[in-house]
Amino acid sequence: MRPLDARLEQAMVRVTEEAAVAAAHTMGFGDGNRSDEVAVESMRQELAQLPMAGRIVIGEGERDRAPMLYVGEELGSQCGVEGAVEVDIAVDPLEGTNLCATGAAGAIAVLAASERGGLLHAPDVYMDKIVVGATASGKVDLDAPVGENLRNIADAFARDIDDLTIVVLDRQRHNRLIADIRAAGARIRLIGDGDLSAGIAAAVRGTGIHAVMGIGGAPEGVLTAAAMRCLGGEIQARLTAIGDAQKARVEELGITDTDRIYSTDELAPGSQILFSATGVTEGRLLRGVRFFGRGHRTQTLIMSSSRNLIRFVDSIHREDPATPVIF
Ligand code: FBP
Repeated sequence: MRPLDARLEQAMVRVTEEAAVAAAHTMGFGDGNRSDEVAVESMRQELAQLPMAGRIVIGEGERDRAPMLYVGEELGSQCGVEGAVEVDIAVDPLEGTNLCATGAAGAIAVLAASERGGLLHAPDVYMDKIVVGATASGKVDLDAPVGENLRNIADAFARDIDDLTIVVLDRQRHNRLIADIRAAGARIRLIGDGDLSAGIAAAVRGTGIHAVMGIGGAPEGVLTAAAMRCLGGEIQARLTAIGDAQKARVEELGITDTDRIYSTDELAPGSQILFSATGVTEGRLLRGVRFFGRGHRTQTLIMSSSRNLIRFVDSIHREDPATPVIF
């Protein structure tokens, strides 16, 4: 039988394409909740139709807080059917809600899938991360001083530290990290949102990004790990609970080893990982959705860990056969 990720490949492209198109219709309206809502609705509708017994492991939140795509939700036409294809799914229907709401670059619709147990069910708290591509994989350590990591990344790229660009989320909590990167001499790209798409870009040579550092969402960390499994990159991460609610959540889940560093393989241990991301707004790696009279065009990155597949899918969706195709 064909591997799970081969059977689901085309369907998953469609799932992120549809979510991206739904979100892109709301671009610039200044209503992040609405943008998120339409992406979630669309993704859920598409996933529900797929011939699988799917289970959300990273989603929009816990059951009592998210009406759709909540953690534990079962989706797919084979749910409850004996012998069904069992799939674990991690979603971020709209990564970069604010980017979409303001029309800024870098919003994407994302999904990762694997066989059961292939993606860590991380709580919705923060995560301290360091992400590098294949070139610097194995050369970084989350606990090492910032300057040491930058020296090792620079050596891996056979260049000086001042020829590196590191992406950091523009947050006050990163003041110290930013000062340390500057002191070491690397360039910094501060981003408003979207450390997942930045992580993917760091793993692709030619994007001009060499690493992502700092604290972002844990769900995005698991999705980044799924992408790194397909791209040969590395993420190291530590759950970081900020505020009472997050601390309570970590305790509630019985997580006691709060110092633990998770490796790429621990965050995404699956042997058949599928990762799909479609651009919503224009980005470094993916074009955003482009609308034209009676149609639209999308760009998707679909990757499979088991088949070493990295495919860019450029789709033109026409409302009828008379819609002209524009190159
Ligand atoms: P959304 O997908 O929810 O819009 O998250 C965007 C994001 O910037 C992530 O990329 C990042 O991991 C996280 O938010 C950081 O959280 P915070 O904005 O609370 O610092």
